[in-house]
Amino acid sequence: MITEATRARFAREVAKYPADQKQSAVMACLAIVQQEQGSVSTESEAVIAEYLGMPQIAVREVTTFYNMYNQRPVGAFKLNVCTNLPCQLRDGQKALHHLEHKLGISAGETTADGLFTLQQSECLGACADAPVMLVNDRAMCSFMDSDKLDQLIDGLRGSLEAVSSTQAKGE
Ligand code: FES
Repeated sequence: MITEATRARFAREVAKYPADQKQSAVMACLAIVQQEQGSVSTESEAVIAEYLGMPQIAVREVTTFYNMYNQRPVGAFKLNVCTNLPCQLRDGQKALHHLEHKLGISAGETTADGLFTLQQSECLGACADAPVMLVNDRAMCSFMDSDKLDQLIDGLRGSLEAVSSTQAKGE
């Protein structure tokens, strides 16, 4: 469901480009939808395509090209583990398997409690720090051996528990 407020945000992005190049705002429009809804549905892609005057398949190509767009709902923490060659050569696959085992899910899945979504990722542009991973499309984590992965997962779990307990106390 795209609201009038969302369309107003689209319009602000479109205004940044020449009138005959509205399509240049496609990434911004997708990011707005994801920010508001958590993921980008096929229906949202259709609305954006119509709004920008471009084929729906062209919007879909953008959504599916970039890992940062969620094609389905994800957990509170989205973990993208790089498994491209430089990371592979420094245990990137081992890092992915470690997380699959620790979280009890396979790559592409979300834990039953909705906390973690685990994904494979293409090169994140930090090969010298391999193996690397990205948390929630923002925080880059370097040199992720098994110990650091354990610390990360435990830390993320702990951070949510602390928030829940603060909310329960009404603070
Ligand atoms: Fe992993 Fe480049 S291959 S960051």
